[in-house]
Amino acid sequence: MAREKWGTKLGFMLAALGSAVGLGNIWRFSFVAGNNGGGAFLILYLAFVILIGVPLLLTEVSIGRKAQSDVVGSFKKLAPDTPWFLSGFFGVMSAFLILGFYGVVAGWSIYYFWKYLTGQFFTQPDAGYAAVFGEFTSHAWHPVFWSALFMIFTIAVVLSGVNKGIEAVNKIFMPLLAIILVVLAFYSISLDGAKEGLKFLFYPDWSSLRDPSIYIAALGQAFFSLSIGMGAMLTYGSYLSQENKLPGATLGIGLMDTSFAIISGLVIFPAVFAFGIDPQSGPVLVFITLPGIFEQVPFGGIVGIVFFFALIIASLTSSVSILEVPTAYFMRIFKWSRRFATILVGTIMFILGISVSLGFGIWSGITPIGNNNILDSMDYVASNILLPIGGLSMALFVGWYFTKEQALESADLTGSPIGGYWHTVIKFVAPIMIILIFLQALGIIE
Ligand code: PHE
Repeated sequence: MAREKWGTKLGFMLAALGSAVGLGNIWRFSFVAGNNGGGAFLILYLAFVILIGVPLLLTEVSIGRKAQSDVVGSFKKLAPDTPWFLSGFFGVMSAFLILGFYGVVAGWSIYYFWKYLTGQFFTQPDAGYAAVFGEFTSHAWHPVFWSALFMIFTIAVVLSGVNKGIEAVNKIFMPLLAIILVVLAFYSISLDGAKEGLKFLFYPDWSSLRDPSIYIAALGQAFFSLSIGMGAMLTYGSYLSQENKLPGATLGIGLMDTSFAIISGLVIFPAVFAFGIDPQSGPVLVFITLPGIFEQVPFGGIVGIVFFFALIIASLTSSVSILEVPTAYFMRIFKWSRRFATILVGTIMFILGISVSLGFGIWSGITPIGNNNILDSMDYVASNILLPIGGLSMALFVGWYFTKEQALESADLTGSPIGGYWHTVIKFVAPIMIILIFLQALGIIE
């Protein structure tokens, strides 16, 4: 059977942008920035996106397009009889871990959507939004139910092949989400006490750079948000034909993704300070801040409905790209049908997600890594360790296994003025930086 292909280059761009923009920009960006001191984190994150992220995004897509295979198969094809294919396994592993918790948080979003649709969140419940959220997430099966629903949507889309529904839905809801966020940012900034939030986000407190964990946090956020290091972008690239040029497209995706993160920072942090919420509240941050904002804006209930709907769509276009990574791999090695592979992989991820949900309730005492609950621990391993390792090996592969000519050609940079720069980044700068950050996180260097 011939491999599937995108309908058009625009279809690829939208799907890749859909993969990049998701809970990572709104939910994850806010709490990671909140935990790591705000401004200084933002600068580090931006530096990593520009210096490492965008060049790696181009690298990752170009590997897939050249090989026309999944994340493991691509390395086997381009470098037969070498161990390079092991890089792909990190990607497959991180896909399981990430969708395991992503599905849970997206499930929370569906629950919020439901609460808005039925008008129950239009005004603050007596106990307050934070308490209601706490009650919901610690319930034995409510969160599991909503994450099951989200996983069913994800499976349904991946089942029908990526290029049908998903392209069209993206076209409408991405711009809509952007518009809502911009409008909300204005409201948030106009709240009393918003200034503190802006200060938190834009005036770097350089002393935060002394905290060793900020570097790996910013690196992990850059990888997570750009969907790199897992092979999602590689797999999407593998459905492209050689004649579609990559550098402009990948730069565009990087810029748009980053803008979404900054705008959602403008929505969240002014409100966090205006409402007196602790910016270090962690993964629950946006779920207690946003309803507070919606309550104050005119027609906030309607805004809530549209916002959470758009957030669900944004999450769906990302989760689809995550599920596609192991699906494409299993389809090839076991010769499974798309249907069987998708349902099986999606179900395993859902089951992993049950433990994440329980981690907010009866299993809240379980802290696999440090003080982190199950969600935070899975997120830490996948985003801060597995994704950067995946990215590192892709950089080394294109930088060192390919000749410079092959590398430039694969990325459509032959004869381009930025070709030399990109190649230096891939070959030296990105690998060295990633390794230094790892060594520093391990406490080996200061
Ligand atoms: N980039 C997505 C987001 O920001 C999440 C993601 C991570 C998707 C890794 C694919 C691979 O929500």
